[in-house]
Formats: sequence, C-alpha cells, structure tokens
Amino acid sequence: MTAGGFAAVEVIRTKRDGGTLSDGQIDWVIDAYTRGLVADEQMSALAMAILLRGMTPAEVARWTAAMIASGERLALGDVGRPTVDKHSTGGVGDKITLPLTPLVAACGAAVPQLSGRGLGHTGGTLDKLESIPGWRAGLTNDEFIRQLRDVGAVICAAGDQLAPADRKLYALRDVTGTVEAIPLIASSIMSKKIAEGTAALVLDVKVGTGAFMKSLDDARELAATMVGLGAAHGVRTVALLTEMSTPLGLAVGNAVEVTESVEVLAGGGPPDVVELTLALAREMLAAAGLADADPERALRDGRAMDRWRAMISAQGGDPDAPAPVAAETEHVRAGRDGYVAAVDAYGIGVAAWRLGAGRARKEDRVSAAAGVLLHRRPGDRVQAGDVLYELRADDAARIPAARAAAESSVRIADDRPTVAPLVIDRVG
Ligand code: URA
Repeated sequence: MTAGGFAAVEVIRTKRDGGTLSDGQIDWVIDAYTRGLVADEQMSALAMAILLRGMTPAEVARWTAAMIASGERLALGDVGRPTVDKHSTGGVGDKITLPLTPLVAACGAAVPQLSGRGLGHTGGTLDKLESIPGWRAGLTNDEFIRQLRDVGAVICAAGDQLAPADRKLYALRDVTGTVEAIPLIASSIMSKKIAEGTAALVLDVKVGTGAFMKSLDDARELAATMVGLGAAHGVRTVALLTEMSTPLGLAVGNAVEVTESVEVLAGGGPPDVVELTLALAREMLAAAGLADADPERALRDGRAMDRWRAMISAQGGDPDAPAPVAAETEHVRAGRDGYVAAVDAYGIGVAAWRLGAGRARKEDRVSAAAGVLLHRRPGDRVQAGDVLYELRADDAARIPAARAAAESSVRIADDRPTVAPLVIDRVG
C-alpha cells in the first residue's frame, strides 16, 4: 500500500463486489495510475469490474474530475468570441467536423476542435485533414489559442498534457475489451472536452451498425451521462442522437471525405451531410448564445468556405491542392433491378479500412487516396449493371478483401424502402 493511498487490490475488490468507490479511492487510483504506481494489469481489472458493475452518477462525475486533474486545463476566456465545440462518438463517412467547424466560426463563434486519429472501421478527422498537402495537426497551446482568436476555427491534435490519464487508460481499454463501458466512454470523452476549455459543447451520439452504440437505449444512456457531466463542470452541453446504420454522404475515406466536405462548403454536397451539418451548427450556435445567426446563409454566400480556406492555410495546408488520386479503382455493379434497401455502414467502413483508409494498430500509416465512393444510397432506384459503389486503393492487392467486406452491405429489394430520419432525438 502506498503511503497516504489505498491498495489497488482493495479498489478493484470494491468494484468487483458491486460496491461504490469513494472519492478518495477514485482520486487516488487515477493519480497513481497516471504516475505509474498502479500497474496496467490492476487498472485492466478495475476497468473490467466497472464494465460489469457500472458506476453511480457521482462516481462517474468524480472519475471525470480526476481525469481532468491529471493534466492541464486550457483557458479560452480571452479569444474574443463565445467558444463552442462538437464531438461525435464516431461513424462511417462522418466528416461533419470538416464543414461544421468553419461554418460555425463564420457565424461568430470560436470552435476549438481537438480531434483524434481513427482506429478500426471509423475514420479519424486528423487522418482526413492530413490528406491535404502541407497541413499539420500538431500545434502548441499558443498557436492553438492564436488561431482561435484570428480565424475562429481550429482542428488539431490534442496535446500530451490534456487528460493524460485518459490517454493511458484508453490505450489499455482498447486491448482489454473494456472500451464499451458507458461510464468509461462518457468520462473519457468529457474529460478531454472539459479540459480543452470550451464553454459549450454539442455531442453527436451515433446509433446503429456503424457506431459504437448499436442500441438506442445505450446511446440515450451515454448521451444523458455526458450531458450531466458537462453540466456538472459548467459546460453547456446538449446531445443529438443520430442514425449511423448507413454511411454519411457518399464518400468514405480520407481525401474523398475532404472533397465531399468542400462540396458542402461550396453550397452543394449530399443532402444528409448538409442536413446534419446544419442541425449541429444550429445547436452549437444556440449553445454559444448566437441563435440568431443563419448557418444556411453562411454556406450559400461563401463565408463558411472563406473560413475553411483560412483554417487550412493557418496550419500550413494548401486549400487549392488537388486531391490525391488512387492508383486502383474497381466498380461494383448491381446484380438486379430494384431499390437500394440498405447500405450497411459497418460493412462499408470495414471495406474502406481494408483499402488502406484506416489503421488496425495505432502505429499504422493510412492512405490518403483510398476509400469507398457510393454511387447509390438507400431509396435509390437501380437497374442491373448500374454502379453501386467504387473501391479505391493504392495497391490492387487490397481490393479483394475490401470487396468481400462490402459485398453483402448493399441490399436491393423490389419495393422502395422508407428511409429512417437522420436526427433521432435530442438530449439536454
Ligand atoms: N472516444 C473516446 O475518446 N473515448 C472513448 O472511450 C470512446 C470513444
């Protein structure tokens, strides 16, 4: 037992047996784990006990506070505009951060978007932006705050000092089957967002085959937990529950998603991407006290595009650089006439990953050009021989595995399906 502390085994036993951890136990275990005094195997056992036994709201609040206290908390009070951020729990083709951040900045807010890289079948915002030649994800705190003041929009990597306990714990959860615990997901996401210093936050909690949360009940519980944590820390927080059984838009990959985002900023783009971008922008502007701003107009009149160009240039990127082109493309065609009844987000996400757009391990490199481009979406009429989607890769050897992953993802039926609404509910 550490002087002045608890024995890790006692903390594990308390949770294993269904008890409630005391504030002291939580503060101690997070601090001691961050400093290397609690071993990975002990933290793994505790994470599994939490997954199986759950946590009370008071425990989750204390756990989150301890994770915030493990590192620095940024102060964004003097950037000259109200700050508001958005976080998505992750989905296939979810490029919404790209058009949304400059759009909300163009309407008068400052958007401090600290993002991550993708792992598995969902892509990462930084991987997408890194397909733009010259763009760099790493900024110092001073650069981050200066860009927020000058441009109003920053998307960059979170620094090492932001909730370091979460960085360590998330890597451990990833390899111990404990990612799915709702208290751990909620505290992980919210500790980083609260430490980042935003005054308001809009959460996009995805539900469906391509999301973390497969069931609406779990998504609701996660949303309510995170909204409560935001409120407890003085961050105005609301959540939208949104559909993620179908990929968002037509592009799934890195450069292809940047291209689609630029189409949205130019006033075009797929209707579902535009709808969700505007729905989240309205929530963010309302949370920032700018409910009178008109994001639809900012998309139409080019202000959001101007802000995008400034945001990309400020981080060394060339907004006019042509998108990288994949060496190999394969078109997959419909075998019969009918209506597209479903395009499964998980299958398409795995296909994009196999093509090289995503990584299996943190150290893997991703391909800028690889990905899937859908030619049809649910509800569309098709004839035998029409292209359903195309697979793009740098290396032809990647195509068969991607084709196998995507094969059963597109279902064609005789009757026109009813297409599910994109925004399912609002919590907060
Ligand atoms: N994203 C996070 O940042 N943390 C989690 O636990 C899950 C998703």
